[in-house]
Amino acid sequence: MKDVYIFAIESSCDETSASIIKNGKEDIATVILSQIDIHTKFGGVVPEIASRNHTKSITIVIEETLKKANMKMEDMDAIAVTYGPGLNGALLVGIEAAKAVAFAYDKPLIKVNHMAGHIYANKFAGEFKFPLLSLVVSGGHTEIIYMEDEFKFKRIGSTLDDSVGEAYDKVARVVGIPYPGGPLMDKMAHVGKHSYNLPLPKNDDSYDFSFSGIKSAVINLVHNEKQRGNEINKEDLATSFQEVAVDILTKKTVKALKEYNIKQLLLAGGVSANKGLRDRLSEECNKLGVELLKPEIKYCTDNASMIGAAAYESYINNEFSDYKLEPNPSLDL
Ligand code: KG4
Ligand code: ZN
Repeated sequence: MKDVYIFAIESSCDETSASIIKNGKEDIATVILSQIDIHTKFGGVVPEIASRNHTKSITIVIEETLKKANMKMEDMDAIAVTYGPGLNGALLVGIEAAKAVAFAYDKPLIKVNHMAGHIYANKFAGEFKFPLLSLVVSGGHTEIIYMEDEFKFKRIGSTLDDSVGEAYDKVARVVGIPYPGGPLMDKMAHVGKHSYNLPLPKNDDSYDFSFSGIKSAVINLVHNEKQRGNEINKEDLATSFQEVAVDILTKKTVKALKEYNIKQLLLAGGVSANKGLRDRLSEECNKLGVELLKPEIKYCTDNASMIGAAAYESYINNEFSDYKLEPNPSLDL
């Protein structure tokens, strides 16, 4: 079969990104323009500001990607774009750009689910061996997904309230760490010691999670310490929080690996960059004889490379979209 080049676009949240992916697993060129600095001063992503900045950047990001690869749009076999889940206005910018390029260069259009993209970021790490499980941990999702084949997703557990990424960001905010607090909390967790006792949330036999209680527990802890005239040790809090978060994610994932007799685990989503989680799951998978695929750090948070990897499956199955494609902000796997 001839080589397949997919031009992929991602704009679901606060990263404007484009990428050229060869045969679904080779990253030829990727550009990611993050708006994090703009949103940090508001303590989170402001949807209208995100859309406006995507509009400003999208053409530049597309052109830069082609330049980086030393390729032309004519060389592409298809144009892929994220159509959900995410922010409506932000998704719209990417979708309209993809439609315009597909129309102008007469290329087929492929719609991609952002969460499938996070899972398919693992295509850059190795071959999928089915049936497999994927632990999907991001700013919007915390789910255990069973896959019996390519693009056959079955959710076996998910969070009942906040995602683990949200919990990281909210706890970070309580102690004055700017948005998104996850990456810094992770670094601090490796410096501090476990000195605060936080409850292990939803420590039961189900595959569901709950992270809103742990955030309230941290707020209460900080408040109580203040009333006693004590300063919170931020590093120790980060260690204590990370231990609890990693513990519950690992515990439920390991249980599912055993119950479903799985030989491969994929880690996916922004929180899969977390060193504590990566180390702990590596250890547990080693013990169980399960292969762990984890994306390189640059593929953990939002990027268009993962969208190109996921789109390849649609391409080989001749699944294309028409120009009626619209954002689906609450799209499920
Ligand atoms: O997947 P992502 O880039 O965006 C969504 O699709 O949600 O995930 C962003 C989330 C944020 O909550 C961020 O704090 C978290 O991933 N995150 C981390 C780390 N790196 C990113 N959380 C914990 N430890 C990290 N190293
Ligand atoms: Zn994401």
